[in-house]
Parts: sequence; structure tokens; C-alpha cells
Amino acid sequence: MLCAMTRAMTRVFHRTLGRTLPVAVSGSGVTLRDADGKAYIDASGGAAVSCLGHGHPDVVAAMHAQIDKLSYAHTSFFTTEVAEELADTLVAGAPDGIGQAYFVSGGSEAIEAALKMARQYFVEIGQPERRHFVARRQSYHGNTLGALAVGGNAWRRAQFAPLLIDVAHVSPCYEYRDRGPDETPEAYGRRLVTELAVEIERLGPRNVIAFVAETVVGATSGALTPAPGYFRGVRELCDRHGILLILDEVMCGMGRTGTLHACEQEGISPDLLTIAKGLGGGYQPIGALLVQQRIVDAFARGSGFFQHGHTYLGHAVACAAALAVQRVITRDRLLEACTRRGEDLRASLTQRFGAHPHVGDIRGRGLFMAIELVADRAAKTPFEAKLKLHARVKQEAMARGLMVYPMGGTIDGRLGDHVLLAPPYIVTTQEIGQIVDRLGEAVDASIAALAGGSH
Ligand SMILES: Cc1ncc(COP(=O)(O)O)c(C=O)c1O
Repeated sequence: MLCAMTRAMTRVFHRTLGRTLPVAVSGSGVTLRDADGKAYIDASGGAAVSCLGHGHPDVVAAMHAQIDKLSYAHTSFFTTEVAEELADTLVAGAPDGIGQAYFVSGGSEAIEAALKMARQYFVEIGQPERRHFVARRQSYHGNTLGALAVGGNAWRRAQFAPLLIDVAHVSPCYEYRDRGPDETPEAYGRRLVTELAVEIERLGPRNVIAFVAETVVGATSGALTPAPGYFRGVRELCDRHGILLILDEVMCGMGRTGTLHACEQEGISPDLLTIAKGLGGGYQPIGALLVQQRIVDAFARGSGFFQHGHTYLGHAVACAAALAVQRVITRDRLLEACTRRGEDLRASLTQRFGAHPHVGDIRGRGLFMAIELVADRAAKTPFEAKLKLHARVKQEAMARGLMVYPMGGTIDGRLGDHVLLAPPYIVTTQEIGQIVDRLGEAVDASIAALAGGSH
């Protein structure tokens, strides 16, 4: 049998060099297994991807059927039945006014397409002076250069800064740390909208293309939910100035928060909406940009051509996988399951960590939850960045057969640690209990190791 150690000699340029990774060999339901037979509960869906868990028979069958018929037909020559059906399905479930879907192969590609489509839209309608994007600090929109430029995580951007387009960044919506002691959540949301308004005035409202934001922030700061009314205020502000609102739901969308799109819970509709991870559930690489009909019409009246494209746009097998994933979510009423199991997860986390001296905040929505780790709970002091607590928690969790998604730099790209949980929508209440038990052990062991000075 192939054992983990045989992979110490690798020809793969891995994310981190010099580390020996376990070799994943099979997956079923919420469980992944490595070559040594060790089982891991996938409590993060990888990076909030595997919304149906692993090896779902309906998705696997749909992919087999599509491969037997047709794997690939370049989109400059053909459309396919399966891409058309997927687009129909997505548009039917999309926020108000969305009229078409542009298919790509992942989240960063969806963001790149959104940035370029937004810019070209203004060229099409005779406003070529619009050239600025505004986004938020502590956001993550992907690792390609455009996506990295709108992203607001200082550490991820730093060494590539000379290559990035100039993007203005405003404050994230981060209640735990930034809402004033006497400020209501609504007043906090209004304050942030005012800050955005001031930034737009500084740039000149007629020079701004779009405001880009994750509806619920994922990877870089751990399931930060928007303050009540914040996105309605942002929508009004954008409308007042003819600025587009691009919502990035690559991580928080497609059911993860209990509604198909996270923005449904904010009562607004974006101009452009990016989706990816839960779209294909990890069965195939796929993302999409959902586009307001008004924008489609402007292209149709104008050049009739979006000056963009990739070789694998609308790949037939990827579309078949995504269509099957979306059908299972509807058929098995998994949005309701996500909401109910999300309540179980919140209750379980609150019971285990609600009074924990090193857990400052428990937050999120649906099956998209995080805990923020602190050295001092009363003062909200983070652990020192050099301790890399997040990495230790990941290691301790893996040792206990648990996959979670911890990250450092929660507060400003350098300081702060959180652990993100995003289990598959099929997770059971009993499995949630196991996840939280193992996470509790992993957090306690990591902090005990720091206290023991074994760092
Ligand atoms: C909100 C958000 N946008 C974009 C991306 C980039 O997606 P991908 O890694 O598929 O390129 C991610 C990935 O984590 C994300 O969380």
C-alpha cells in the first residue's frame, strides 16, 4: 500500500515545501481517508468546498454520464445542453434581476471576470472615465493579480504590491473588534457606509467602477457577518452614484449560510455575483459570475462581445457536476438542513467555548462558523503572531482525525487567529458533536503546548 512516508520524495511543487503530507486516497460522506487508513472528519469541506461531502453517488453518476456523452467542446464553437441547463437553474434561483451566468473554473477566475466585465460595462455605456475599484481590508478575493489587488489582506498582498492595480480599501464589517461599546449594530453599519461614502467622494463618484465585498467574509477573518442594514446602505450608496456592487460569494454562497445566496438575508441584489466552491462541491473545478440582465443588455446593445475568456469556460463535465450538486441540494432540502445543523453547530460551539478563556468570539451563519482565539479574553488581546497558533491548531486537529480551516492574521493580516468550520450540508448532529469535541481538544492541546514553551 502507498504509505504517507513514500511521498516525502515528491516532484509536486506543494504549497509549503519540505513538509510531508498524508496521501488522500478515498472519501465518503463527511470522511476522507489517507493511505495509512486514517480517517478524518472533513469539518471544513477543505476550504468550504465539499458541500455534499465526498463520493456523492448522484454527482458521480452525473459526471460519468456526461463523460460518456461529451467531455469538452470549446465555447467559441459550441454551447452544450448541460451548460444551458445549469445557467437556467442558477438564474431561476438567483437574486432579483440576474439574467445570465458566465462560467469559469474557480473563484479567482470569477472575480477576474467580474472586474473586467464591470470595467467594460462602463466603456460600453459611454463612461470610460470610471477606473477605480473600492474594496475592504481583511477580505479575500483570490490569488490572481486582479483578485489579489481587490483583496485586503496585507500579508497576502505585500510582496506582490508592485504588480497590483491601485485599489482603495475601507474598513471591514468586524463587530467583535470595531463596534464601539455604546454603538448599536445598526449605528455601526451606518458608520461603515459613511466611511465608504467619504472614500467614494475622495476618488470622485464618476471615477468609481465598483465596490467589491464578500457578503460574509471567509478565509481571511473567519465568518464575519455584516451588521444589520450595512449592505442595504451600501446598495443605496452605489445606486446613488451609478457604481456597481460586486458581491463575492465564492465561499459563503450556494447554501453555505442557509440560503442559496448569502445576500438574500441582507435583502439586496448585487450587480455582479461571484460563486464557486459550493457550486461544484469539489467534484469539478467550476465557478460562475451571475450578471444582472441590465448589464447583459448593455453589452448586447454595445459591442456584443465580452473581451475575456479562458480555454475551459463552461466545461461540460464541470457543468454536469455542478448541475447534479444543485439538484441534490434542492431535492434533499439541504438549505433547511444547513440552517438546522448550523443551529446545532452554534449551540455546540457555545457550550464548549462560550466560557473558554482563549475564545473571544463565536460567529457566523448556517454551516459557516468560526471561533476567534485570544490570549486574553477580557482585553481581546491576540496571541503573538510568531507563535503561529493557527498552524498548531490545524496540526493538532489533523492528529485527531479532524479537518478544520484555521488562519492567522485575522485582525490586520499579521495578528489574530481564528478557526473556520464549514462542514458538508449532510453533516449529522452526532457528527457535529464529534467535530466540536475534537476541536476543543486540539485548541486546548495547542494552547497548552504554547504555555509549556514547546514552540
Ligand atoms: C471569497 C473568495 N473569493 C475568491 C476566492 C478564490 O477562489 P479560488 O481559490 O477558487 O480561486 C476564495 C477562495 O478561498 C474566496 O474565499
